Amino acid sequence: MRILFIIIIVGLLILVVNIILLVLIIKLIWRCSLPPKHDVNLKARIVGGVSVSNITDYQFAAAIVEIREESTVDLLLCGATVISRRWLLTAAHCIDYFEDNEDPKESVYITVGNLDWRKGNKHNLLSWVYHEEFDSSTLDNDIGLIRVKQILSKQYEQAISLASENYEYKPHTKARIVGWGHTNYSFLHLPSTEMLNRADIHIIEQRRCVDIYKKFGFTVTDSMFCAGTQEGGKDACKLDSGGAIFERGLLIGIISWGHECAKKDQPGVYVRINCYKNWIMETTKKLGAPLNIIKKKSEEISTTATYNVTSSGWMLETVSFQD
Ligand SMILES: *[C@@H]1O[C@H](CO)[C@@H](O)[C@H](O)[C@H]1NC(C)=O
Ligand SMILES: *[C@@H]1O[C@H](CO)[C@@H](O)[C@H](O)[C@H]1NC(C)=O
Ligand SMILES: *[C@@H]1O[C@H](CO)[C@@H](O)[C@H](O)[C@H]1NC(C)=O
Repeated sequence: MRILFIIIIVGLLILVVNIILLVLIIKLIWRCSLPPKHDVNLKARIVGGVSVSNITDYQFAAAIVEIREESTVDLLLCGATVISRRWLLTAAHCIDYFEDNEDPKESVYITVGNLDWRKGNKHNLLSWVYHEEFDSSTLDNDIGLIRVKQILSKQYEQAISLASENYEYKPHTKARIVGWGHTNYSFLHLPSTEMLNRADIHIIEQRRCVDIYKKFGFTVTDSMFCAGTQEGGKDACKLDSGGAIFERGLLIGIISWGHECAKKDQPGVYVRINCYKNWIMETTKKLGAPLNIIKKKSEEISTTATYNVTSSGWMLETVSFQD
């Protein structure tokens, strides 16, 4: 009698544990199968800019290009930024996109050093990686690295320095974006521009941007910041993703996402580059070509990509990489 009782109790316990496990598994599957939050133009991402007239100040600007079997012309996929002789930074969602190709080493290449992305120096890919915690539904941690086969040392190929960890994303600070992406959101079905464009926008207060995108159901995390203009009209757009936003010659972010392009009160969202210094250091080490940091004061930067500085006297510490 007592033995029977124990068997029943043990049986019930096993049943309860099984039910709990089942619920957990269903929850997990459910979570993984939730539809992406952003069905907007995520690959998206210069509207309202002007074309760059001299490559000298933009030698860090790179394009990620795909060879299409069914097409005679190669396709622009994304932007990227040269940060050392071997490494480029881009958005994780750009890598996620071309990683689906059968053999990206054969079908994808980088161009650098020309205002026309089709005419730049071509570089083959050696390896690529994106952030382990990249979330393709929220675009959190939208950062990745690409290592090129041949060292970037040709004419008009030069790395940009990065803003250091203590860089402050001060609201109203003027920053510049560059890219070969779409110049008008109404014409996304047409090819984008062949010549490099630039636009000057402003960093937007974090709280305000969080509130703006909350209304659309999107999350602006602490590792993102926003930039735009009061009245709209200037923004990154489709195919600018992965490219640079910089300030006084320092890279401060990666073009990541937004809702439509250049609309009033819908600023562009960028990756806060200074949150990822450790990730960059560790990842490049893991992939066999570690970067070393050389800290410099702003006066010492060999200023590529600087433009007329309005707020003088503010010391910037920079992070330059060397490999
Ligand atoms: C680009 O700028 C550099 C440096 O300012 C100058 O030496 C060069 O002549 C310019 N090139 C063109 C095509 O204007
Ligand atoms: C985009 O094209 C539309 C339609 O032609 C036009 O009304 C609009 O002003 C253009 N926007 C920009 C930023 O050039
Ligand atoms: C920067 O702007 C100021 C004021 O607009 C102007 O006087 C100065 O010549 C400019 N400097 C350069 C290097 O363009």
